[in-house]
Amino acid sequence: MKILVVGGAGYIGSICAEVLLDQGHEVAILDNLSEGHRRALDPRAEFIEGDLADRETTAATLAQLRPDAVMHFAANALVGESMENPSKYFRNNIAAGLNLLDGMIAAGVKRLVFSSTCATFGPPERVPIDEETPQRPINPYGESKLAFEKILKWYDTIHGLCFVSLRYFNAAGASEKFGEDHHCETHLIPKVLKVALGQKRHVEIFGTDYETPDGTCIRDYIHIIDLADAHILALATPASAFYNLGTGGGSSVREVIETCRRITGHPIPVVEKPRRPGDPPRLIASSKKIKRELGWRPKFQTLDAIVESAWKWHQKFPRGYED
Ligand code: UFG
Repeated sequence: MKILVVGGAGYIGSICAEVLLDQGHEVAILDNLSEGHRRALDPRAEFIEGDLADRETTAATLAQLRPDAVMHFAANALVGESMENPSKYFRNNIAAGLNLLDGMIAAGVKRLVFSSTCATFGPPERVPIDEETPQRPINPYGESKLAFEKILKWYDTIHGLCFVSLRYFNAAGASEKFGEDHHCETHLIPKVLKVALGQKRHVEIFGTDYETPDGTCIRDYIHIIDLADAHILALATPASAFYNLGTGGGSSVREVIETCRRITGHPIPVVEKPRRPGDPPRLIASSKKIKRELGWRPKFQTLDAIVESAWKWHQKFPRGYED
């Protein structure tokens, strides 16, 4: 298939583009490089530098390429930032996304795979979180992604857009070529690995008094290659759908740090800090629906496998995509 990967210079988009290309698909990438990196662009893909906020260019790109499907990764994704600057999140994640949808409809492109998030659920009443769990986001980031999910349903009803919305839990790990390098790194695993690389003295643990066995937050870490596989399966669904994507297992912050110690051989000193605002104590996915309906099977079942791949990439690229 010919796929337009929007946001293909970012962490998840770059690896999905790589996996699509490895499987013989034709890939074009549209990215404004605000969060992504030129060096994260797979050289086998056609690259169009452009911004979804530019309605005309977005429409023209779609009209010219006429892809079989679009994968949409371009978004701002920091919960904390969204609490300070909600406008950025509503403009970039909703308004700019509408330009993409309208350009698709005008060009007759009727299939979309959308990057959604467990942040659309807010703190759940119970785990694991399945697709029936009520969505009550507690920050503008989650709200913007939920709003876009609702817009997608209307574009299906009115324009016949076939979409799959994948709600990721904690994406982690790397491929051989591409990995996690955010301009402003807030995520636990890359921050811990920077300590192992000697770039930071310690890692902070945000909150040690949660109602969890060791007092720290529990997350469902899913390997980026397993995420990419889910996107490719999503290209063939007969109808629009929402799927939660995680491994169904949970690891606490302390467990992640301990795993990183074991794999890197570095003592990784920690400093215990107060809770980070907006962190739910426990987020674990039920991915039964995508397993049942699309036959998705994660290959990287353990945190060890996830951290090993991330560590390999960070050792190869200790400064990430910087010069
Ligand atoms: N944490 C630390 N120290 C750090 C960084 C993180 O203790 O230096 C903790 C966090 O408080 C949290 C856990 O590690 O308990 C995981 O934090 P991340 O920032 O790696 O990931 P989040 O679970 O906060 O974020 C993920 C996705 C977001 C999504 C969010 C939904 O990356 O896109 O889940 O809650 F919005």
